[in-house]
Amino acid sequence: GLQLFDPVRRNSRGYDLGEPGVPEALAAAIAGARDSGRIAAPIVGGTAAVGTAEAVRNPATGAVVGHVIEADADTVDAAVAAARAAQGDWSLAGGAFRAERLERAADLLEERDALFLGLAIDEAGKTLVDAVAEVREAVDFLRYYAAQARADFTYPIALPGPTGERNELILEGKGVFVAISPWNFPLAIFLGQVSAALAAGNAVLAKPAEQTPLIAHAAIELLLEAGVPAEVLAFLPGRGETVGAALTGHDDIIGVAFTGSTEVARAINRSLAARDGPIATLIAETGGANAMIVDSTALPEQVARDAVASAFQSAGQRCSALRLLCVQEDVAETMIDMVAGAMAELNIGDPAILATDVGPIIDAEAQANIAAYIAEARAAGRVIAQAARTDWPAGGTFVPPTMIRLDHVTDLKREIFGPVLHVATWKGGELDALIDAINASGYGLTLGVHTRIDGVAAHVAARAAVGNVYVNRNQIGAIVGSQPFGGRGLSGTGPKAGGPHYLHRFAEEKSISTDI
Ligand code: SER
Repeated sequence: GLQLFDPVRRNSRGYDLGEPGVPEALAAAIAGARDSGRIAAPIVGGTAAVGTAEAVRNPATGAVVGHVIEADADTVDAAVAAARAAQGDWSLAGGAFRAERLERAADLLEERDALFLGLAIDEAGKTLVDAVAEVREAVDFLRYYAAQARADFTYPIALPGPTGERNELILEGKGVFVAISPWNFPLAIFLGQVSAALAAGNAVLAKPAEQTPLIAHAAIELLLEAGVPAEVLAFLPGRGETVGAALTGHDDIIGVAFTGSTEVARAINRSLAARDGPIATLIAETGGANAMIVDSTALPEQVARDAVASAFQSAGQRCSALRLLCVQEDVAETMIDMVAGAMAELNIGDPAILATDVGPIIDAEAQANIAAYIAEARAAGRVIAQAARTDWPAGGTFVPPTMIRLDHVTDLKREIFGPVLHVATWKGGELDALIDAINASGYGLTLGVHTRIDGVAAHVAARAAVGNVYVNRNQIGAIVGSQPFGGRGLSGTGPKAGGPHYLHRFAEEKSISTDI
């Protein structure tokens, strides 16, 4: 089976925030670990580069959380050269050697989680619930890819052949890999991409999202402390237009793992194609126009709970988030009322406060774009519900969860990366037309289905052109090893993160045939 490499690994336990005393103890630990003195400077060969430090701000309050120094062109070149020189030995050291270091990093991350929880909240605007999930997922990625490195990258895989001939397949690192990561999972996806590329035997140049360099910096320090050689791991913070472009246009890189917008993935693809270097691999995980199909047999309370969680948890800033609720016409009024009722209960505000359900939008530019979109819908008379508990701090970038009515599912033209849920209805008997219309968006990431008829769920799952189908539950928060995550079409290239095939895309295969 596909899981054979992973028989004993367990996902991280994380914390049960419902247990009495746990949130308070975590809050105290986070306060104790808080330090606004961190400077996310570029790190090449284990040494921090100098430069002009710019402030990194908390999106909920505008307060300074730390500072960042952007990598300059010379630093990028030096990092590529160092990585190139060291990568071969790292690959030859074997999967078990690399796995040990990643597993040590996972242990350290669990030990020091208060630092990372605090940075996820202060720098990325995560609620405590989201921050706990973020650290847990990061730990899981480290251990999952370590287990696969041990299993598939340590010994040759024996292949059949005639008597007198030994045939083997071995997996090697490809070379220098670039990881360009998003701000919405600034630790989990950052470490997921970096650790996968490392586990497969590559040297890695890590460029965190411009909005979240501090938590990524702390993660790189952790990997280095865990014994990942400084020569095979560089940290290059900065903007996409400068540092990102310098990396993806460099002749000496062999691949890019990118998570972010479809538009930037296309730009990276063009940049890779325009180089004189080797044909590079692009592993891209991008956006979605994710729908939830609700038929007339679905349980309204469950739909309300799962739609609200899927659309508004993390302020809708997940690529998996629900964007389009498709309700069968006969039950639409009841369902929409229940969702609006659940929305009214949401607390929007400072994520550092435990009662907060929905935190800030990542920055002022994103906030302004989402607000303008909502204003346009309001002018068109399409806003049918908006969350009202909006006691948020001054200086923060917030948008209240909003529900917008569409005449038809195809009216959703692009991904709105925030707390905006669109609703459209469909007629019984037109399920296939609905699925085809959803598929026609060209995106293919998550799809939710709510129905009490097993045959309907199975039919939708089979016909939908998406990467992740969720039946009678929410459609966010894929678990490493259980729900390999990633889409198709405009949503990404695959393979799926946290799944059995991910690491192989970062590797070269070599066949060795010996006459014996
Ligand atoms: N892996 C995340 C999720 O499943 C990505 O957005 O929600």
